[in-house]
Amino acid sequence: MTEAEITLTSLSTTRSRVLDPPDELIELAAGHRLVRLVHADGRLGWIVLNYRDASRLLKDPRVSSRQDLRHGPLPHARVRRRMEPTPPGFFMRLDPPEHGRYRRHFAGLFGGRSMSRLESAVIHQVDVCLDRLAEAGPPADLAGEFAEPLASSVVCGMVGVPERDRTWLAATIATMLDLTETAERVVAAEGKFRRYLEDLAGLRRREPADDLMSMLTQRQGLTDAEVSNMMQLVLSGGLEITASMLSFGVFALLTRPDQLRRLLSKEVDDGAAVEELLRFLTVSPLLTRTVLDDIDVDGQRMRAGEPMTIHLGVVNRDRAQFGAADDLDLGRPSREHLAFGDGPHTCLGQHLARLLLRVGYRRLFDRFPGIRLAVPESEVATRNESVIYGVKSLPVIW
Ligand code: HEM
Repeated sequence: MTEAEITLTSLSTTRSRVLDPPDELIELAAGHRLVRLVHADGRLGWIVLNYRDASRLLKDPRVSSRQDLRHGPLPHARVRRRMEPTPPGFFMRLDPPEHGRYRRHFAGLFGGRSMSRLESAVIHQVDVCLDRLAEAGPPADLAGEFAEPLASSVVCGMVGVPERDRTWLAATIATMLDLTETAERVVAAEGKFRRYLEDLAGLRRREPADDLMSMLTQRQGLTDAEVSNMMQLVLSGGLEITASMLSFGVFALLTRPDQLRRLLSKEVDDGAAVEELLRFLTVSPLLTRTVLDDIDVDGQRMRAGEPMTIHLGVVNRDRAQFGAADDLDLGRPSREHLAFGDGPHTCLGQHLARLLLRVGYRRLFDRFPGIRLAVPESEVATRNESVIYGVKSLPVIW
């Protein structure tokens, strides 16, 4: 085995171009499939920059998602805390077979066929949120008046979170994902979120309604703590990322008028356009795992116990896989991007996200064909301090 030549002492999140991953990582990826990375607690591990390795490693049983083994890549409040066992039901941080024991409860609920049945309800919610945007402006903040309320109404509605609790819940999740927050505030937000969901699970167990939470509480063998942690994953996975992808996708299209024209004129298929935006923007770029057994990649040995971060934003720009990967090309044929991850933990809500994005973009641009930024592109603030990338707000006129 040869020694890795390059060690990154920290993970760069600073972007010189808003739509592209950090320069340092893109440059490294041109000559390296993986390099050494010092993770936030000082533990030396790896960062994977190559598409094929990323896809293969995410399916490799020698690679673990367990929380008690985890060393995060960013100096986020949570990584400063001691590594703890995975809470019951928090399947995103469990390995097979325990992971599958929880994930199988969602079988059929988030699949393509269920989404077809949901389409008319999603169209209705999109139109309600477009009315809200129309009432607020012009000018109006598309993120706050359209993208966030849309993700919230669909995902919270599905889980069974009452309307009155949705605003503070979204703010609490944002605190949990904010890289600049103190450990105290993140722990407090997590505690509030957990207690709220456990109480709601107890209520739905006693008085079931027509929603996901009620359904799971009626299943044999699941405790309220398990159900609430499963729902925490759906909410924290579904709300902020989907809202961010909606508004960031609109930003990308408004700043790439040639591509927007292709969408408006229906030269490209709406579904293909969504896939390309997902690939190009990769709003949730970092996955972290731990190596359980030595694995050799590109002449280097990843050793048991070492943390491994996969930068989905960088691997989704791999030229060997996508050709002119740094171009946004809405007609690109490949759907093989990794924006939803890969392997057993691949995104549970990906079909729902695709539906929301496809219907959301199409109806937005059909209703407001003259929509444009209300401020110069350079004045749109981005979310450099969140685990989820995107714009903080998106002022638009029409
Ligand atoms: C554009 C929107 C979305 C993106 C880019 C996205 C991205 C991802 C990624 C990359 C993962 C893999 C995590 C890992 O391997 O550790 C993931 C997992 C997950 N996502 Fe999504 N997601 C989106 C929307 C949603 C929605 C709408 C929901 C639910 C309503 C959801 C629920 C989940 C859950 C529960 C997991 C954990 C799956 C598991 O560990 O088995 N996501 N998502």
